[in-house]
Amino acid sequence: MNASLPEPDDAAREHSHRLSDLLRGRVATRPMPFVDWMQAALYEPGLGYYMAGARKFGHGGDFITAPEVSPLYAGALAAQCRQVFDAERGVPRHVLELGSGSGALALGLLEALPADELSHYAILELSPELQARQRITLVDALGESVLQRVSWLDALPERFDGVVIANEVVDALPVERFVKRGPAPGDAWRVATTVGQGRFVDVQAELPESLRVELARRETGLAEPLPGGYASELNALAAPWLASLAAMLGRAVVLIIDYGYPRAELYSAERTRGTLACYYRHRAHDDPYRWPGLQDITAHVDFTALAEAGTGAGLSLLGYTAQAGFLLGNRLTELAEARMVHCVRETERIAIAQQVKTLTLPGEMGERFQVIAFGSDYDRALQGFAGHDLTHRL
Ligand SMILES: C[S@@+](CC[C@H](N)C(=O)[O-])C[C@H]1O[C@@H](n2cnc3c(N)ncnc32)[C@H](O)[C@@H]1O
Repeated sequence: MNASLPEPDDAAREHSHRLSDLLRGRVATRPMPFVDWMQAALYEPGLGYYMAGARKFGHGGDFITAPEVSPLYAGALAAQCRQVFDAERGVPRHVLELGSGSGALALGLLEALPADELSHYAILELSPELQARQRITLVDALGESVLQRVSWLDALPERFDGVVIANEVVDALPVERFVKRGPAPGDAWRVATTVGQGRFVDVQAELPESLRVELARRETGLAEPLPGGYASELNALAAPWLASLAAMLGRAVVLIIDYGYPRAELYSAERTRGTLACYYRHRAHDDPYRWPGLQDITAHVDFTALAEAGTGAGLSLLGYTAQAGFLLGNRLTELAEARMVHCVRETERIAIAQQVKTLTLPGEMGERFQVIAFGSDYDRALQGFAGHDLTHRL
């Protein structure tokens, strides 16, 4: 499957070689846990995939996210924000978006919600290159004046009240990889990275005690422990990430949207090779060592772990459902019809209908993507989950 990937140009190749050389130096004396290798491949300052160069998002990039598919996606999220802003004792009219990518969702929300509905939009973006790109996206579409209600952050603020949105952020957190050694819960090798015959390769390393305990805990909740040889991932960073978010929230709603499953499905008997996936110019493949720094590396999210981490950090679980249900609960169909009224050509109407299908059909993004919501000092029902709540599956 990997052989058909397009070849990078000379500049991209040179960039990848610089990151590879750096990582080769780091694994020279001993193998590096895969989680650290993935951290560097994605976030090494100036060299990692999200921190430099390539276009990444949209048709000319490596992958397309829901905000890039259609402004209707931001329209539906705006409807959800409006409900919690307008509720009795609603949350303050602020949004904090984590990992804003090209800025498409920010643009859609700022367009849909004028200043009297959304007074401030903060973006926490680790990548200076993406921060610059987001600023251009917003100013080009909405003019310089939009900057009066937008700010960029490099770290979480001390306190936030409002709606927090993380779209496809958790899948981009570096993951631990493991291979079960035997059937006992937690009995597994940790996957580490070294160099063999000039290439980065996997090696087995001892699983640290804290990870063994965590894996055993997750396996104990399954119908059966995972068998020997079963390989998968464990996103050990998601819980501390959510806990640090929860710690600074006042009155707030958190919306996390990503591809993933409840734990029993993520670690199902058939999924014996895990969910790690790499994206390079719209080709998906499974070799994380191919062209370091030029490709995205992701893993599906354990939504049960997110629910445990959120409630463990004192948040209320407000709902969990598939993206299709959430968008339809936020009147995606009505939003699409309202746009179609203004279409001059039939092709424009067809394009909108196609966007709705991409966002909601089970074989497209509708069921692969899931939404989980938490409240901090807020526990009212969210319209996105009305009639579609799947919390019982977590
Ligand atoms: C797959 S992209 C999604 C971008 C955008 N949300 C979208 O849906 O188009 C992942 C984003 O998460 C960001 N990210 C990764 N770790 C993060 C963290 N700890 N805090 C905030 N953003 C993070 C990356 O920099 C990148 O912008």
